[in-house]
Amino acid sequence: MAETFDLLLRGGTLVTHSGIAPGDIGVRNGRTVAIGDLATASAGETIDAKGLHVLPGVIDTQVHFREPGNEHKENLEAGSRGAVLGGVTAVFEMPNTAPLTTNPGALADKLDRAKDRMWCEHAFYMGGTGDNAEQLAELERLPGCCGVKIFMGSSTGNLLTEDDPTLRRILGTVRRRCAVHAEDEPRLKERQHLAQEAADPSAHPLWRDPETALRATRRLIAIARETGARVHVLHITTAEEMRFLAENKDIATVEVTPQHLTLAAPGCYDELGTRVQMNPPIRDEGHRQGLWWGLDQGVVDVIGSDHAPHTLAEKAETYPASPSGMPGVQTLLPVMLDHVAAGRLSLLRLMDLLCAGPARLFGIAGKGRIAVGNDGDFTLVDLAAKRRILDQDMANVSGWTPFHGREVTGWPLATIIRGQIVMREGELASQATGRPLRFGECLPG
Ligand code: DOR
Repeated sequence: MAETFDLLLRGGTLVTHSGIAPGDIGVRNGRTVAIGDLATASAGETIDAKGLHVLPGVIDTQVHFREPGNEHKENLEAGSRGAVLGGVTAVFEMPNTAPLTTNPGALADKLDRAKDRMWCEHAFYMGGTGDNAEQLAELERLPGCCGVKIFMGSSTGNLLTEDDPTLRRILGTVRRRCAVHAEDEPRLKERQHLAQEAADPSAHPLWRDPETALRATRRLIAIARETGARVHVLHITTAEEMRFLAENKDIATVEVTPQHLTLAAPGCYDELGTRVQMNPPIRDEGHRQGLWWGLDQGVVDVIGSDHAPHTLAEKAETYPASPSGMPGVQTLLPVMLDHVAAGRLSLLRLMDLLCAGPARLFGIAGKGRIAVGNDGDFTLVDLAAKRRILDQDMANVSGWTPFHGREVTGWPLATIIRGQIVMREGELASQATGRPLRFGECLPG
């Protein structure tokens, strides 16, 4: 008798651990149960994927959805709607909300707010501070938590761990891979006058200079070695850090963002002003090439969007009163597919950076690869589609993108989570059904 599935993806080009090849996928009860030639099978729902590439669901390991506290900039519903419109099936959300996510109550509140409102799978970072340092080994294992995040330099919000003794206490406690924003706070304070004097966002990479980033990354790695911690260094921006991290791959994993891979100073500040102000900053072409070197050489493990919306009214304040951060979750995949179309990286490498890499680094259960037994999470893309990224198509509450007006080649046409079609050709499902992610090492025995 012919096999029956809940969902059948028919005739697509599958991007799997075996390579890129035509095939069908059968999903039953939310899980992938068959991969191959399923020509004789039937299903409750069949998607004709001819002409499309089928990726494992894209996972964005760095987003700021601002809820609770700053819902005028972004919220969990709109942020995750942007995610699935952009082909993203799961997100890790950051703890610099108000209140900060630094205790079990704040985490439980976010999980509660996410229920029936988030369109994609999700997990929340626990902020590491001097106040909760000794509890982090327990906090990081709570259901719905993806791990600990530390800010070594001030950015948006007031989550900050600037001194080595506190960093040592945190990294001495944390057992899972710890995500870190590495900018050296003492040097930031020393040089802040440069931003004030310039009163222009082109001074942002001068104030928060390459040495500010490198110094923090060096301090971080030294303390990680001392304490036996494994660290994930977020949004690397300098060629020097990339070479330094290449010497420390045994304990450090590395993230870059699409904006640091795509934009460069001084042109981006001339064109987009405070819209492209973020921490750490967009730097010059030499550093951008340094990031691509790291990506080409395998030093980079994941690409995260650092989706961090602020309203355009806030961005219109005079620098440096203007806040740092820009939206990105909805454009993560289109911008990177455009780099694939330009021959800058292969689709298989992109799949590892956006799907398998996040799952491998953080131990996400049942996601990251197209495999029998894994959840039926897929991102269907048309590699040849030419589309224009536009502010008016953005779901984020702040309503804009730094890539407004850019034509890209490659576009996500469907987002499927646990066998449910959450987005197809820009149309959403009738209900938000995202669930908390589960992590292998934290599953109950
Ligand atoms: O530019 C940034 N904005 N960098 C960060 O690290 C935080 C983020 C935000 O939350 O706005």
